[in-house]
Amino acid sequence: MRVGMRGRVLSVASECVPLIKTGGLADVVGALPAALAVQGWDMRVLLPCYRNLRAMAADWPDVLVEEGLWGGTGRVLSGEVAGLSVLLLDAPHLYDREGGPYAGRSGDWADNPQRFAALSWVAARLAREGIDGWKPDVLHAHDWQAGLAPAYLAYYGSGGCASVMTVHNIAFQGWAAPWMLGDLRLPVQEFHPDALEYFGQLSSLKAGLVTADRITTVSPTYAAELTRPEYGMGLQGVIAARESRVSGILNGVDTAVWTPKAEPVPYAVGDMGGKAANRAALCATFGLSVSGPLAIVVSRLTDQKGIDLLPKVIPEFVAQGGGLAILGSGDPALEAAMAALADRFPGRVGLRIGYDEALSHQMFAGADAVLVPSRFEPCGLTQMYGLTYGALPVVAAVGGLADTVIHASPAAMATGVATGISFHPTDAVAFGQALRQLVALFADTAAWARVQRNAMTHPVGWEASARAYAALYDGLRR
Ligand code: ADP
Ligand code: GLC
Repeated sequence: MRVGMRGRVLSVASECVPLIKTGGLADVVGALPAALAVQGWDMRVLLPCYRNLRAMAADWPDVLVEEGLWGGTGRVLSGEVAGLSVLLLDAPHLYDREGGPYAGRSGDWADNPQRFAALSWVAARLAREGIDGWKPDVLHAHDWQAGLAPAYLAYYGSGGCASVMTVHNIAFQGWAAPWMLGDLRLPVQEFHPDALEYFGQLSSLKAGLVTADRITTVSPTYAAELTRPEYGMGLQGVIAARESRVSGILNGVDTAVWTPKAEPVPYAVGDMGGKAANRAALCATFGLSVSGPLAIVVSRLTDQKGIDLLPKVIPEFVAQGGGLAILGSGDPALEAAMAALADRFPGRVGLRIGYDEALSHQMFAGADAVLVPSRFEPCGLTQMYGLTYGALPVVAAVGGLADTVIHASPAAMATGVATGISFHPTDAVAFGQALRQLVALFADTAAWARVQRNAMTHPVGWEASARAYAALYDGLRR
């Protein structure tokens, strides 16, 4: 049910589906506006106008011009894309480049601190002044790239606009050299450990954490983990000091896009015939022939994701009849390790290096299980896709993975609530044990069908989370 108009939010981020994506941040930033519209919150998203967006926005009108934006003029262009109200910061000297949002061919852009300071600077001005009668009540900053926006509101005046800083991943903190303080338009007197300073450096994320009215992160467990040294990555003290302002709001997934009902061979609870056809197609795509559970990994190949554990556990899994299809890209050493694993087990382990949204859909539709052995995971989306597609999640019990998967313990099986398998700690021993449990569960057809049904009916949509964000914004409206 749609409620009356409650207020306006300017959401500020470096990624947003369907415009630009490198990870789950984009999915979340792209999904929030529609989810919040149902709650009566009118949200617009401000993003940099990267090269890939310029043609689309060529005839969008300017709604704000900012001179002297770190070496050139910035123009905010306003338009609509797929039902989203989008504001693009067009500053060609900062964003019109060949490459990704953060890096070109030879690594991270050296001026990333300035590029995202510019985004944050313009965000703060928009929040303070509004545009064309649209004046936000709340500025919602996502990750370090928007971290200076709450800081600029705090230091240069907020115009009555409140701020929320959301941490999607505390491993990325937006560091800059201390001598850049002035260039980044930050007050010298704030360069101390209780404010902008982080072990001698400047940190844009920390700037947001110390100045925002509220801090959120993307699962309740990660919110608690962030106060501990093993997960807080040096910022645990900052989070702990502001604990009364911190909350964990679980991400949802776009259930119109991520549903087996929308796949080329559809299936649903009670009508699972299509799953077998999708499984056969997936085996054909990866050249696999598998009698036991067919598992997938769809992931950035990085240390965070525990990918280095696969070569340690997959040989036994394969020996027990399992198979694995991997889609991902990232760390070259991990890409090479995955290639070696696929070479070692032809017909049982398949690999695609790259980024392929359509293939990822086909993989969830065909898989029996999705493996997510992360060392830390603020929320994680692929385990939730696994739930909706009946590709049972096998996850490390950390962060949002712990909050979204109900482990098939004897008690959960007896009460009929299990939705997957989780293990702790994130090491090869526990992961190997989880895969043995997966093989055994797969062999017990009746038990497998029960867990699969629970998984597919587990709510993963945005509704509950959107209500939580709406309540948070309500509490901030001035
Ligand atoms: P993170 O944001 O840390 O990478 P999430 O699980 O939150 O992790 O989100 C990852 C998102 O990126 C998911 O939508 C996932 O399907 C997608 N993804 C990751 N790697 C690939 C890939 N190689 N091809 C297609 N989609 C991918
Ligand atoms: C980050 C996290 C991931 C989370 C995503 C969206 O990329 O690594 O766990 O799901 O942001 O919030």
